[in-house]
Amino acid sequence: MSSPKTYDVIILGAGGAGLMCAAVAGRRGRRVLVIDHADQPGRKILISGGGRCNFTNINTAPDRFLSANRHFMKSALSRYTAQDFIDLVNRYGIAWHEKTLGQLFCDQSARQIVDMLMAECADAGVEVALGKAVSELARDDSASGEAPYSMRLGLDRLRARSLVVATGGPSIPKMGATGFAYEVARKFGLKVVEPRPALVPFTLGGTQILFRELSGVSADVIASCGKTSFREAALFTHRGLSGPAILQISSYWQHGQDIAIDFLPGLPPEWLVEQKRDRPKIHMATALGSLMPDRLATTLADKIGLGGELANLPDRKLAGASTRLHRWAFSPNGTEGFAKAEVTAGGVSTADLSSKTMEAKKIPGLYFIGEGVDVTGWLGGYNFQWAWASGVAAGAVA
Ligand code: FDA
Repeated sequence: MSSPKTYDVIILGAGGAGLMCAAVAGRRGRRVLVIDHADQPGRKILISGGGRCNFTNINTAPDRFLSANRHFMKSALSRYTAQDFIDLVNRYGIAWHEKTLGQLFCDQSARQIVDMLMAECADAGVEVALGKAVSELARDDSASGEAPYSMRLGLDRLRARSLVVATGGPSIPKMGATGFAYEVARKFGLKVVEPRPALVPFTLGGTQILFRELSGVSADVIASCGKTSFREAALFTHRGLSGPAILQISSYWQHGQDIAIDFLPGLPPEWLVEQKRDRPKIHMATALGSLMPDRLATTLADKIGLGGELANLPDRKLAGASTRLHRWAFSPNGTEGFAKAEVTAGGVSTADLSSKTMEAKKIPGLYFIGEGVDVTGWLGGYNFQWAWASGVAAGAVA
């Protein structure tokens, strides 16, 4: 049998985290191989941000990430910042713009980000093997210090000093997403925080589906779950609720919890009473129609059931309506699941990883980066910033 090909670093997964890690390790003079079972690198980058890739967020801060350990992401995010990635994008002359809430997008195409990362890898002498999956992954403790990680790739046997698992999470399986990172983690005795779909639309069932007729309507709302709230657009769908405010709050939601929607965001409780004083002849639907799409205004007015001119409605009833409009509770019966989730929350437990290097505390040379780790960002470029930052953290030492 031929002798194995030996690398310093083998990285599984040619997504954002894996490619970033590869480029950084390659520049340090490491012999690096990146392996992906997909035929092309960075497929999620290509479809992200509607094809324009929301590649970072200038408001990146640790409190915009979920994890069992809310401090874990601090080290990597502080050592590779949004500005560092902007500098890289600028060096490649990629034009970009801020869309909203600090979200940065390519002016032209997400393809430019993948091409940039591939160029960085090529400059750093990184080898990339696409369309191939590894098997027989193992660690030989007696070979530690040499190249303890071994695996098979097609007919080749490979060995590596370090193994970086950058295979992401299982969201959007039809794109080749897998829970492989968790399999590897468990195989080596690391814990996995129960993975769950995040940044995902809600489904509503039974009596909760009262807004089905509004499918396609969107409105500015505050969506809340427990103590967490997001003010952005919500979109009614034929199955439930979507839109940025809903995707954001979904990451914080657990089965059985209510979601409260504020349809009068930023308005004082006495707003309806003020409307009555200022425009006594109008009806509730007209008052609400000045704030939101007519179809939604009419539906909400119907549900509240206060007909006629505002002038004829007692202040007490208007105050009650206002309370309801500020806190309209829904009980989602579930989410659209991994098939539609933009990311996976949970993942390889941060308790078993170094926050500085992403290396497994008890297994030298084994690293986990990107979405496979129990760190999940808000909607808006935060997840890519985590992919870049965790990739750089591991690439600097692997
Ligand atoms: P990623 O999933 O990108 O890469 C993992 C790689 O591993 C893939 O190439 C996969 O083929 C490979 N792989 C999996 N299993 C394997 C195996 N067993 N063997 C070999 N290879 C394997 N975030 C953001 O910040 N801004 C945005 O605009 C968007 N937009 C967006 C849109 C949509 C539709 C989705 C689904 C997601 C987003 N995201 C996003 C989230 C973002 O795409 C995600 O967080 C990152 O791509 C995660 O990067 P990773 O490198 O960790 O995993």
